[in-house]
Formats: sequence, C-alpha cells, structure tokens
Amino acid sequence: MIRDIAHLSSVELYTPVLDDTVAFFRDLMAMEVVDRRGDSVYLHAWDDYELFTVKVTGHHTSGVGRTWLRASSEEALARRVALLEAEGLGEGWSEDEPAYGPVFHFTDFDGHKFGLYWHTHRYTPGPEQRPSLKNQAARFPGRGANIRRLDHVNFLASQIPPQDRFLAELLGARKSEQIMLDDGSLAAVWFTVTDKSYDLVYTSDWTGSRGRLHHAAFATDTREDILRAADVFLEAGIFIETGPHKHAIQQTFFLYVWEPGGNRIELCNAGARLLLAPDHEVITWTQAERAKGQAWGLKTIETFHTHGTPPVDASPSGGLD
Ligand SMILES: [Fe+2]
Repeated sequence: MIRDIAHLSSVELYTPVLDDTVAFFRDLMAMEVVDRRGDSVYLHAWDDYELFTVKVTGHHTSGVGRTWLRASSEEALARRVALLEAEGLGEGWSEDEPAYGPVFHFTDFDGHKFGLYWHTHRYTPGPEQRPSLKNQAARFPGRGANIRRLDHVNFLASQIPPQDRFLAELLGARKSEQIMLDDGSLAAVWFTVTDKSYDLVYTSDWTGSRGRLHHAAFATDTREDILRAADVFLEAGIFIETGPHKHAIQQTFFLYVWEPGGNRIELCNAGARLLLAPDHEVITWTQAERAKGQAWGLKTIETFHTHGTPPVDASPSGGLD
C-alpha cells in the first residue's frame, strides 16, 4: 500500500450566481473568504490547515472546476506525475493558485480537472480568526452549519471502469465500497486515500455526459450539527433535497441541499468510522441491496438520480432505486 496522495484538499465550484454562492458558503456553511481573484472567491473551513477549502468561480452555469490533491512528498508527486504523463492525462504545471506551489494539472478519463502538488501555503489566522488553541487552524465559528472541513467529492462519470483504474492505479487510492449491477457493471465506486473510508467517489451518469458533479460533501463535528443545519437552511430559503437520513453505503449521516448556483452540497458525518485494515476487502452492494435505499430515513428521492451539474438536456435513463 503506497500512500502517494496525502488527502483531498479543495474543490472549485462553478456558479452562475457568484455572490449568492459565496454568501452560502460564508454565512451558512461558516467559512471565511480568504482571497478574491478575478471571478473567483476562495473560502476557508475552520479546521483546514491550508489556505483555502473551496474556490467559487463565476461561470455561465454550475458544475465542478478543478479538484486539488496534496501529494505525500516531493517523491510521491514525481511518481504520480510520471504515471499520469505516461497515460496521456497530464496538462502541464501551474503556479496560479494562491495556496500552492507548483501544481501538476491533469484530468481523469472523464474530463474532470485535477491538480496535484506538494508545496503548500498554510492558513494563517488574522486577529479575528485566531483560535484559542494553537492546534486548530482558525477560530471555531459556532454559526450556521459550522462545517469543519471538505470531506469528499462525488463525481458523475460517463463510464465507471476507467475511473476505477484511474483512482486505483494512477493515484494509488484504495477502493472501499462499490455498487455492482446484476449485469456485472459498476454503477458507483468509493475510494479512500486516507484512513477515512472514502474521499473520492464516481457514480455513473444517467445522461452519459462527461465531467459532471453529483455533489461535494463537507464534514461537521456531530450529527446534531447537521440537524441544526437543516433549520439554518430552512430559514435561509435554501432548497433541502433530502435528509437528514443515514446511508447504508458507508453509513454516513447526511443532508443534501442545493446551493444557490445549483450544485448539490452534502453535509456529512460518519461518526468515528475509519478504515484501518491495510488488507480490507471491497464491500460490494448488489442492485437489490441498493434498491432498498437508505439505512433508515426516507427512501432515496428521485432527484438524487436526475440532478447533476452542470445540467444537461437529457431525460434520465432510469435510476438505481
Ligand atoms: Fe456523499
């Protein structure tokens, strides 16, 4: 087991309503605006040791921009760059972001954009954001949904097997769970690069489109934070899609909302669950098991299988449950 990828760092979201999406992350998710460049605004979650957690970019539509990953070392970065280059997925180096040193740009096989780097700039709190404890990045906000950190990104992909290989072979991630349909095809795969049970997820895109987003997920400290978040979003007029319920797959307690730009945002809490076994077996969920829906709570809502960003003009070819 080689852990060349240290963790998921940050994600860029496109929005047609930049100010509203920034307000969502700042006022309701309790993040801090740390930088602005052109049409992009950078926001920081209170327990993120790096400079930014989300980059929100004004765009003609919604969707996901680049997703950044930190390598475990300079050598790990070089190893992964060589593999990605050999596969023809490399797009060269960039030093355009305020948070990172040289970033290697590449895509997955579905066209989602990634950045991999080693050198990073740590978040330095100003007087207003200085925490009481020096082992915490920023002051505990105690407002809104009070999200602690970015947890995972769930991409939609036109085909799952190439993404499965991308994560396993090119990034060295470990698969923890998957959905396999009755015909033997993969409908979704969950991968981890840490001791969390998942960090990066691919779900089959019912429209056959490439490069789309299903959701970006943010972790709260407690399940109770998610219950309070539902009240916060209700008062703010944010569309609550479904939840709070508990997933059977990965056992995550969750709430899904659509931020003002249309991207699906998950608030998640997996309790103390970790995946410590270095030789764990992949958990495979069957089509019938998937059709049972959540562990508890209401059945999976239809839009969970019909809403992705950016929106595409296609009728759904049928959900999984
Ligand atoms: Fe999720």
